[in-house]
Amino acid sequence: MDQQFWDEMYGESEQRFSGLPNDALVTEVTGVEPGQVLDLGCGEGADAYWLAEQGWKVTAVDISQVALDRAAAGHPEISWQRADITVTPLPARSFDLVSAHYFPIAHEPDHATLRGVLDAVAPGGALLFVSHDPTEFPEPQDHQHHFDPYAYYQPAEIVALLDDEWTVEVDDVRDRNRPAAGHQIKDLVLRVRRAG
Ligand SMILES: C[S@@+](CC[C@H](N)C(=O)[O-])C[C@H]1O[C@@H](n2cnc3c(N)ncnc32)[C@H](O)[C@@H]1O
Repeated sequence: MDQQFWDEMYGESEQRFSGLPNDALVTEVTGVEPGQVLDLGCGEGADAYWLAEQGWKVTAVDISQVALDRAAAGHPEISWQRADITVTPLPARSFDLVSAHYFPIAHEPDHATLRGVLDAVAPGGALLFVSHDPTEFPEPQDHQHHFDPYAYYQPAEIVALLDDEWTVEVDDVRDRNRPAAGHQIKDLVLRVRRAG
């Protein structure tokens, strides 16, 4: 799924997502002391807006220029950056929180992109990784455009890569308040923290 794929997806409608911050983000981050946050795959920016309103200093990254143009129409204080993180490395040990909601990271033999995401977490900081429960995906209607969730890292695979420096704080399956693409797919919510 390259920039063209995502630009076309966002270009199909004036607004793709609800405009509301994700449930798991609000649950996990409300009341947390704000710092530097990276919103990975920020899309139309609803999570980034919410984080900025909570006092976080937000860097929001997405591969899609269409999504970023839409998102950046509000909140100029957010640092909006277009990047493909499979190609452009993230700054190391820089963020108190790296937030990735429904952000697809395709499997790689050396886990380079996933390791880059983990590396971006500052000492004492956390990665919040939220994905759709792959066991609940509907049977493909159209094999050509079928999204195979198992082609992408699942929370358990992230946990398996962590060394002693990391603590798993949250590893849950949760109901969503809003359906995903018309289907009520549960969230897998993972929060892991690097030692300070
Ligand atoms: C399913 S959307 C989720 C958007 C947003 N996080 C949300 O919850 O509404 C995944 C997002 O990741 C972005 N994305 C996918 N691959 C990327 C990559 N390699 N580098 C940066 N962004 C990427 C897409 O453009 C898209 O906006």
